[in-house]
Amino acid sequence: MMDLLLFSLLFLFGVKGQESSVCPHSCTCNQGHVNCSHKSLTSSMLPSHFPPGTTQVNLNNNLLTILPNGLLDDLPNLHSVTLHGNLWACDCGVLYLRALLTRQPSSVLLPLNVSCTSPPSLSGRLVMHLTEEEVLEFCHYWYCDLALVSQVCLFVFMLVQVLLLLAVFVFLRRFERLSREARRTKVETSAFGESVMANEYEALKESRT
Ligand SMILES: *[C@@H]1O[C@H](CO)[C@@H](O)[C@H](O)[C@H]1NC(C)=O
Ligand SMILES: *[C@@H]1O[C@H](CO)[C@@H](O)[C@H](O)[C@H]1NC(C)=O
Repeated sequence: MMDLLLFSLLFLFGVKGQESSVCPHSCTCNQGHVNCSHKSLTSSMLPSHFPPGTTQVNLNNNLLTILPNGLLDDLPNLHSVTLHGNLWACDCGVLYLRALLTRQPSSVLLPLNVSCTSPPSLSGRLVMHLTEEEVLEFCHYWYCDLALVSQVCLFVFMLVQVLLLLAVFVFLRRFERLSREARRTKVETSAFGESVMANEYEALKESRT
């Protein structure tokens, strides 16, 4: 029983360790040549690493918008990559691709015809010729969005609080007025009742005499 457990653990870890050396799903691999072209691949379908012995990678003619950070790092034998014919988004996410294409000197034969599809103002531009300012202009940092959202939330909460305070104030005023009226009518009715009783008493007295 213990042996079986140990064996399955070893097997599991063995498989896990080998994960990066297997051919990525939906690509064809042949002696270090990983061909993932013309497969309608999106960026989320890319593996986190290619097999360590990879010499050539074809990623052209897919639906890639972003090259995952580090995807083509740690491949000492890599000498050629194709990346054209994708939907590269030239915002913050393009920085790794841009760094890869402009890295000098590079031992890898890198394609020159990698161009942006979005944002519209950078559409058709070559990724390697983008300036850092151009790229950073289209960065949407999540913590900026978070700060904005929390500011809006804070404002809404304060507004609600002010409205609630106003409502409480209005109700208190109304309650005060109502209770004052109630007190007054009570005094009036009792005064009226007393005077009625007094009149009746007088009338009774007079009828007796
Ligand atoms: C890669 O695969 C596609 C189809 O899956 C094929 O058309 C293309 O010729 C292949 N590229 C190379 C360099 O083998
Ligand atoms: C881009 O360059 C590759 C070679 O690196 C070539 O095969 C391909 O036809 C070129 N594509 C365009 C659109 O220029």
